Amino acid sequence: MNVIILLGAPGAGKGTAAEGVKAAVPFMHVSTGDMLRAAVKAGSPTGREAEGFMKRGELVPDNVMIRLVEEKFDAEPPNTAYMLDGFPRTMEQATMLDASLARRASRVDHVFYLDAPRDLLIARLTGRRICRKCGANYHMVNIPPKKSGVCDTCGGELYQRADDHEATIGTRLEVFVKQTRSLIDYYTQRGVLVRVDAADHRDKIIGHILEIVRRPAVGQ
Ligand code: AP5
Repeated sequence: MNVIILLGAPGAGKGTAAEGVKAAVPFMHVSTGDMLRAAVKAGSPTGREAEGFMKRGELVPDNVMIRLVEEKFDAEPPNTAYMLDGFPRTMEQATMLDASLARRASRVDHVFYLDAPRDLLIARLTGRRICRKCGANYHMVNIPPKKSGVCDTCGGELYQRADDHEATIGTRLEVFVKQTRSLIDYYTQRGVLVRVDAADHRDKIIGHILEIVRRPAVGQ
């Protein structure tokens, strides 16, 4: 089981890069943000527990996240290759992930840190629009749909995520600095961190990631 991680602040482009990578390499894309939004929409116990934290731009408690990811690993065949997007986000989650992968005779191969300055993150988040029907991701300036407010792929309505308003964005960026940024050092020390310039064109970012994941494996 191979595992790669997309690490980065809100709006760095983790989801956008993941779409391109999984189109080329058969990774199982695990976006904890998408899983939580689906749980909220379904009104499940996990969704009800997570909703308030998400609305405020805070992290959902580690025990909830750890349970969610363990359940996902348990549900998939043992040789599945994973691309984790938005997980881990705290040291506790990273430690749990290591233990979980060790039990499965696996490990984290690469952590791609999408590095972007704050003003770029704010511009990306405030301009993001998502298709209500198929989930396709657009940006009003960078990646606009052909027809305003309408998805190119399925004709669905485009909407703005509830946590993409400026007040909540500020909290999300602060939370990244306080609770997630330490993971950069953690994975650098492990020799698996790859820094990616998140300001680059999405095709260049995806190409960079693919070039590394396709390299033959060497011992760590
Ligand atoms: P989550 O859904 O993971 O949100 P996030 O980390 O805040 O990241 P985003 O989805 O906002 O951004 P992204 O990096 O994917 O950027 P995107 O590709 O869309 O989490 C939401 C919430 O769930 C959290 O706040 C928390 O409450 C909870 N949660 C989730 N995981 C958790 C965990 N592990 N622990 C605890 N709580 C958790 O791009 C953004 C925009 O920029 C788009 O419009 C896109 O079109 C555009 N864009 C992207 N790349 C480029 C590019 N290269 N050039 C030009 N434009 C680009």
